[in-house]
Amino acid sequence: MTTTARDVYVVGLRNAHAMEVQARELMERQSERLGDYPDVQAKVKEHLAETNEQLKRLEQCLEACGETSSTLKDTVQSAMANSMAMANAMAGDEILKNTFANSAFEHFEIAAYKSLLTLCGSAGQEKARALLEANLEEEERMAAWIDAHVGKVTQDYLAVEQRKAA
Ligand SMILES: [Fe+2]
Repeated sequence: MTTTARDVYVVGLRNAHAMEVQARELMERQSERLGDYPDVQAKVKEHLAETNEQLKRLEQCLEACGETSSTLKDTVQSAMANSMAMANAMAGDEILKNTFANSAFEHFEIAAYKSLLTLCGSAGQEKARALLEANLEEEERMAAWIDAHVGKVTQDYLAVEQRKAA
């Protein structure tokens, strides 16, 4: 059997869906524990809402190909996200570890959507382009926000630690 652009595209969509489920899980765990960092908490909650919309857009793309999302893969990914969030929660510098991990995760998502956008035309799914671009733009905005706030988060973390020690 020959592999078609459509096959690669559908696998990519499934992977992106599992990726967003993992992102949602990570942000849900994090948002509960960000009381000391209200600006990060607000941003994470905002991106969590965006992520739920992104999942719906991906489901639309999958349905257009006559596919449903892969629940098995989603389950594995959300278990991984939970254990990652838990491991970071046990670290004293949880906020920093989560910030670095979120930065990496957003860039991973950006690459995944760029790949899907490359494939959607040859997969005969040109109509999906606007949905995938909407997801890409949100990831780019979130990645830029994190990049711009690494310094402030670090200073806030230092202040929180100094307050605790005083
Ligand atoms: Fe994201």
